[in-house]
Amino acid sequence: MLVTKVETPRTYPEFAPEALYSKVKHAIPPFEWPIYAQDIDAIMKLKSSRNAVVLAHNYQTPEIFHCVADIVGDSLALAREAMNVDADVIVLAGVHFMAETAKLLNPSKTVLIPDRGAGCSLADSITPADVRLLRKTYPGVPIITYVNTSAAVKAESDICCTSGNAKKIVESLGVDRVIMIPDEYLAQNIAKETGVKIIAWHGHCEVHERFTAEEVRQLREDYPGIVVLAHPECPPEVVDASDYAGSTAGLLEYVSTKKPPRLVLLTECSMSDNVAVQYPDLEFIRPCNLCPHMKKITLGNIRHALENMRTEVTIDAAIADRARLSVERMLAVR
Ligand code: 13P
Ligand code: SF4
Repeated sequence: MLVTKVETPRTYPEFAPEALYSKVKHAIPPFEWPIYAQDIDAIMKLKSSRNAVVLAHNYQTPEIFHCVADIVGDSLALAREAMNVDADVIVLAGVHFMAETAKLLNPSKTVLIPDRGAGCSLADSITPADVRLLRKTYPGVPIITYVNTSAAVKAESDICCTSGNAKKIVESLGVDRVIMIPDEYLAQNIAKETGVKIIAWHGHCEVHERFTAEEVRQLREDYPGIVVLAHPECPPEVVDASDYAGSTAGLLEYVSTKKPPRLVLLTECSMSDNVAVQYPDLEFIRPCNLCPHMKKITLGNIRHALENMRTEVTIDAAIADRARLSVERMLAVR
């Protein structure tokens, strides 16, 4: 699992806007930079005075990802790193289920989400009552829950998984049948890789479900030699038409090791922007889809979160204890 630590120091004596801008200049137009620079300067100082860190998902925009984040990564990396954070305050630049996971693993720390409305179509697709019904319908079949769910749904589950470890989690249970909720496409994509039978739910990611196999065919025709990398939340026929599928960290690892000269990442738009900052010599083709939830997080509301210590993520203790078990069981699988 690739965890990228951004070289932003924990104490911020001097903000060097020119040096920082030269790093992101291909992703941020010069006329936007002065506005961002003010917020970046303020966030650096606030992180210092509040003893805070910013954890940012790979889908955050470059001015967040490259300029104020202390730790960046996929859902699995953020969950793992949340446990090792040496700070009083965690600002989660990502969506609500990620902030809840950070809180589950850091009950004594203050976890802030800059916009409480940053949700996820997968998390919204299933309720705790749905999970209880599944358990009744399939007695004895273990329930694996994707981290893209509420803490209340995790609390009804046996173990969590992410797109980075789903196959490993399925196979770790030593059974011939599992329930994997709520992403139908992730379940179908993993089912192709394992002999374990997977019972799926009907949730979809509103971003990845929009990619089509026809789009992949057209990309190959328009851009000869293109390497197509897909997230496993894409429909199975899209994954089948691609050269590789993996979590956002898996996609980054593929790019950093193979360095395909011309490529497309079938995932959220900011992922390509962020990876292109690191690999400016590669040609990224970008028919990406935006996640409206991830895009609710901005430099402005990160600054506001730290200034006002809002919005704090809290989880009912009875739910948190059971949800934490599901996440910890996942993290214990190596
Ligand atoms: P990753 O765990 O691969 O980063 O995916 C999270 C997500 O929300 C994808 O849409
Ligand atoms: Fe949820 Fe899809 Fe957005 Fe990821 S990209 S947070 S799965 S809606």
